Amino acid sequence: MFHSSDLQPPRSSVPKTPENPLESIGPCHLIPQQLQGFQANVYTSSMAGIGPVLIKELKPNDQKLECLDDIVELEVALKQDGAPVPELLSYHEWNDGWRRNALVYRYYAGGDLFTQLLRLHQTKAITPQRSEIIAYSIVEMLCRCLQHVHYRGWVHVDIKPENIFLSHDIESPDCQAYLGDFGSAVRIGTTISPLHSGTPTYFPKQDFRSNLGGQAAPSLDMFSVGKVLKTFEHIHRLSDHAQPILLALLAHDALHRPTATEMLNTHLPEWRSRINEIV
Ligand SMILES: Nc1ncnc2c1ncn2[C@@H]1O[C@H](COP(=O)(O)OP(=O)(O)OP(=O)(O)O)[C@@H](O)[C@H]1O
Ligand SMILES: [Mg+2]
Repeated sequence: MFHSSDLQPPRSSVPKTPENPLESIGPCHLIPQQLQGFQANVYTSSMAGIGPVLIKELKPNDQKLECLDDIVELEVALKQDGAPVPELLSYHEWNDGWRRNALVYRYYAGGDLFTQLLRLHQTKAITPQRSEIIAYSIVEMLCRCLQHVHYRGWVHVDIKPENIFLSHDIESPDCQAYLGDFGSAVRIGTTISPLHSGTPTYFPKQDFRSNLGGQAAPSLDMFSVGKVLKTFEHIHRLSDHAQPILLALLAHDALHRPTATEMLNTHLPEWRSRINEIV
């Protein structure tokens, strides 16, 4: 699946343009407060020839802006790999006394997985079997994406339902899921603190011996995949076929967690065949 040329750093990128997309694209609407992230203001708008877009305007004093060019290159390279990541349409940097940056993505009308799971939790309008199939498809998407992310030498570090974007409502057979928000991503081996992602619930604090930090590794993301899977238990308990996968991903010892490739080659096909038996 991979070629030796993939070992080269990503070469292409969307060009950086010196204009404020909030002024150049057209009428923009700030996304309501409960959906707002910590790092960015996000707006919806529309672009001729594209349709709905999401504009992510980064906070000007964010230290992570230092590696933004690398993260943009990574996102573009991942899309070229065929990884399920949101489509980055343009990248903007301008100056109004501060360095300002914004990223424009295709807008995914299903919003984020957190909001969709909350709705399903409240309505319970889904069977345990359907809930398990959706859980499987989300975990499968995350592993496909992470196989590319980790192979390229990066760790996402902030995998959570709020950072998984959906093309349609999650019950729709047409629903496609994407792993987004690479704003916390770091290269494998980078020293980070447990506060790096800003989302302690999904972060394996035990991998980091002290608050001062430890080295980012792919196993960190695999723990977060386990936590995302666990959130589905708020809707219905996962079947006995899913429980060993949950335990393996959430293993206290990082070395015992399956890699994304092991998940795709072994754990997921087994789970999938069991789901086929119960539906
Ligand atoms: N392409 C997209 N399509 C639809 N909704 C999106 C898209 N990108 C972002 N969103 C919505 O905007 C929210 C914030 O976006 P994002 O997670 O990229 O920014 P953030 O400010 O870095 O968040 P965080 O709090 O994780 O740091 C998402 O949780 C999601 O609800
Ligand atoms: Mg986010």
